[in-house]
Amino acid sequence: MSNATYGKEISKVLITKEQIEKRAAELAEEINRDYEGKPLLIVCILRGGAIFLSDLFTKLRGDVELDFISLSSYGSATTSSGEVKLIKDLSTPVEGKNVLIIEDIIDTGLTLSYLIELLSARKPASVKLCSLLDKPERRKVNLQGDYVGFKIPDEFVVGYGLDYNEKYRNLPDICVLNPEVYAAK
Ligand code: IMP
Repeated sequence: MSNATYGKEISKVLITKEQIEKRAAELAEEINRDYEGKPLLIVCILRGGAIFLSDLFTKLRGDVELDFISLSSYGSATTSSGEVKLIKDLSTPVEGKNVLIIEDIIDTGLTLSYLIELLSARKPASVKLCSLLDKPERRKVNLQGDYVGFKIPDEFVVGYGLDYNEKYRNLPDICVLNPEVYAAK
């Protein structure tokens, strides 16, 4: 168990670092099985997805390329509006490749449906999605992760790469943010 202790801005620890590490290893095994003998292009969404990637990436076997993309979605502090802007594009061509997107969380699904549309237009061999977390109750579009670490309830979480206004990304566990932190804004 993680022994990190947090202040009153954190309501509770939802998923510990140890649980995440174990699940990342299981997902890597599944991905290795599914893509055996096929080259893979990992597309990691900055910035939150990078922390999950670091647990997953070195467990992948075979011919694996890595690239990063950065997107921003407008909206209130705790929900996206679906208006997505491309901040940093890939430097790797996608055509003919098996693409696996690595994301921290699928919430409304609007950011990822924008990205899947963008990448699909570049004619990849396939596009799949691996997300550490999934909040299915909040979905606004028909989108599912192919590899999902944990389904979580409709609560705003921080830590392990996930932020609120760029804070809390460095917490080792996935924690529920005390709603008083954003209600006051
Ligand atoms: P979507 O477009 O609503 O699916 O939002 C995806 C993005 O919103 C994620 O990549 C996160 O950056 C952010 N997000 C959604 N839910 C949470 C949360 O509970 N904590 C922190 N960020 C979140």
